[in-house]
Amino acid sequence: MIVPYECRCGSSYAPTADRWRCDCGGLLDLPLGAVTWPPRAGGRSMWRYLDAGDLPWRDITLGEGDTPLIEEDGGMHLKLEFASPTGSFKDRGAVVLVALARALNASRLVADSSGNAGTAVAAYAARAGIAAEIFVPAGTSEKKLHQIRGHGAEVTVVEGSREDTATAAAARVEESGAFYASHVYNPYFHEGTKTYALEIFEQLGGAVPATLVLPAGNGTLVLGAHRGFAELRAAGVIDRVPRIVAVQSELCAPLAEAWTAGRDEPEPVQPGHTLAEGIAIADPARGSRILAAVEDSHGAFVTVGEDEIAEAHAALAARGLWVEPTGAVSYAAVRRLRAEGSPLVIGGTIVAPLCGSGLKASL
Ligand SMILES: Cc1ncc(COP(=O)(O)O)c(C=O)c1O
Ligand SMILES: [Zn+2]
Repeated sequence: MIVPYECRCGSSYAPTADRWRCDCGGLLDLPLGAVTWPPRAGGRSMWRYLDAGDLPWRDITLGEGDTPLIEEDGGMHLKLEFASPTGSFKDRGAVVLVALARALNASRLVADSSGNAGTAVAAYAARAGIAAEIFVPAGTSEKKLHQIRGHGAEVTVVEGSREDTATAAAARVEESGAFYASHVYNPYFHEGTKTYALEIFEQLGGAVPATLVLPAGNGTLVLGAHRGFAELRAAGVIDRVPRIVAVQSELCAPLAEAWTAGRDEPEPVQPGHTLAEGIAIADPARGSRILAAVEDSHGAFVTVGEDEIAEAHAALAARGLWVEPTGAVSYAAVRRLRAEGSPLVIGGTIVAPLCGSGLKASL
């Protein structure tokens, strides 16, 4: 599974513990993998879908993946990612990054996160015996900080924005030589999140859903889900990827604004304070890739307002589903689009994730 990183400038690099971007400054990507379908029998975790090869995942896995897909009214399915071992879908990507860090003999890692990726990386780093330093922006939920520290990681709270947090983490990586377990910069994260797509395809009995409604901050789930279906398409297993409707908060919507303006790169925005803290990313580094993935899927970007997020959160709770506010944004978008009679959600199966647990952050 360990294949070279690629940059758009043409450079490629065998992964090493200290490599997180190209010498030209560009982002590293991975070529599409050759998915084998059907997945391996035996076991129930996301690792059934991956050809893990030389990745030492067996000692650190928590059985991530295999989250329930439940059917609600009218062809809408909810995927309960909050039932993941550390309470969010970030486990799918974090376990791959930490296994990679171990394969590269890293003894220290650094990550930056608005919370859930940090908790996930801290948990897997603990299992791997790798010292972890997690940078979070001021204002991150106390319960997430408590969890990160509980797993033995060192927490640095950065006074400033999510972007300032990333800058501080990158500076620490440069000075310490630690592995940068970044869900934004390290494309191996998407090798984990792509299993979200492969699992849905299997849970639907080998049917491609009409629409995936997905939250979009740094786009790890959008890029992973698109990748999973794109690999199935490249392997000739399916002939189309589902339409991706990517959801942002009205108060922080650089991607939705770029989409509406027809730009292929987002411009940084000045974020407002939104309930959806997990997707409040003012300047998403992989913005052009996220826009391209949604375009390839014939999808769209939509935004949801604070009242819609709060109402969706309450509606989910009334159905027995306790999510963090960010975890309600996809459901909020489905409710709104349905009420409007939008063609984006008419006809066929819709799948929306409930990404994060309400036990970690509530309204
Ligand atoms: C609960 C929750 N939902 C959605 C997201 C958005 O994730 P992405 O970076 O994939 O856009 C996050 C990111 O932290 C999250 O914690
Ligand atoms: Zn380059």
